[in-house]
Amino acid sequence: MNTQTPVSWTNRWTFILAATGSAVGLGNIWKFPYITGEYGGGAFVLVYLGCILLVGVPVMVAEVMAGRAARANPVDAMLGLSRDAGAPAAWGFVGLAGVVGGLLILMFYSVVAGWALDYVWQSLTGTYQAQSADSISENFASLTGSFPRQWLWQTLFVALTGGIIAAGVTRGIGRAVEILMPLLFVFLLMLLGYSWLNGDFVRGLEFMYQPDFGKLSREAVLVAMGHAFFTLSLGMGAIMAYGAYMPGEHSVGKTVITIAALDTVIALVAGMAIFPLVFANGLEPSSGPGLMFVSLPIAFANMPGGMIFGSLFFILVSIAALSSSISLIEPGVAWLERHGVKRRWGTFGAAVIGWLGGTACIYSGSFFDLLDHITANYILPLGGLLIAIFVGWIMQRQTVETAAGFENPLYFKLWTTALRYIAPVGILLVFLHSIGLLDTFMQLGA
Ligand code: PFF
Repeated sequence: MNTQTPVSWTNRWTFILAATGSAVGLGNIWKFPYITGEYGGGAFVLVYLGCILLVGVPVMVAEVMAGRAARANPVDAMLGLSRDAGAPAAWGFVGLAGVVGGLLILMFYSVVAGWALDYVWQSLTGTYQAQSADSISENFASLTGSFPRQWLWQTLFVALTGGIIAAGVTRGIGRAVEILMPLLFVFLLMLLGYSWLNGDFVRGLEFMYQPDFGKLSREAVLVAMGHAFFTLSLGMGAIMAYGAYMPGEHSVGKTVITIAALDTVIALVAGMAIFPLVFANGLEPSSGPGLMFVSLPIAFANMPGGMIFGSLFFILVSIAALSSSISLIEPGVAWLERHGVKRRWGTFGAAVIGWLGGTACIYSGSFFDLLDHITANYILPLGGLLIAIFVGWIMQRQTVETAAGFENPLYFKLWTTALRYIAPVGILLVFLHSIGLLDTFMQLGA
């Protein structure tokens, strides 16, 4: 196998920032806080942490390790590693599904990111300041009803993503995350402080963390598992592609624990920054777009310094979305580059596909929902399951042990156990649930 790699992250921290940038996205800022409140607060957080540790971290270690061992994009990595293990070349399809999945996610992700950019502009120009709740709500409806406005911002967002990718791994992605991620941390802490001073902090904390084991249904456990997966960007090779540029000498396990911890802390802090503001304004913690693009602007419109902190918030969301979206096309671009396509042309092609698909999502809300559904419920869980099976069962143990570089044999044992047994069963449950089969089985069993 080709063990040459043309590029590498400047240091271990660049890899950590890039992977954290991929993980921290729209999923952390609007989805996690809401589902936590919805499914039992502290009780849900405990289950979610369990899923991150028992399924997310083992699969992430497998992805980073596979990328680093093959020193190649997900398609060639899966092909090369399967050849080395004497397994069928069909494993290459797992990488290919990831490349396609990334482009599909980019299509709807870039539309929401475009809304965030529109709100950066609105916040900076004070558009929603001193407006009534009704007119703020209508304003969001008019954005989602306006093709040119959404299209303009979505185009800008895809162009920004493409610009960073085209500049290369070290000079593009590496440099971007070295600037963007510290900004994201600082803005988030500023917002937390603002929320603490101005919001109903106690109520926000109660909503998110008061354990309510009564709400912890089977559904909640599965939601926790699915989200652990999406939030860590697993199952589509994004992390594998980034792992290919990771310097050889560092421990994969420790690095991955750092990334998962950062992702989790950021999700928890985002909730602590958002809900107190919502409650202080007597609003309901609605989910999805309504929470971010209606409830929060209403809160900022009524609070001291709302213009500044509203701007900070939407810049934060845009940064989080941008550092995730670059990881959505890197696998495809790296694959094309490996096969002789110039990086800037590969980027151009991938960006145009994402952009056209995004344009279709703006036209049709049902296409948007379809892509969200297919990627979150099928492509990511299936990709993750296959990666866990491949690294856990197909690759030779010795190769895996050397490539993962665990210092302590006990940790290696724990990891392989989680990867071979716990992760596949857990992911399979999520998958069966998402296609409605779990309920059928349960009914059959009852
Ligand atoms: N992890 C991102 C989020 O939480 O918003 C979403 C995501 C990014 C999923 C990149 C998959 C991926 F490859």
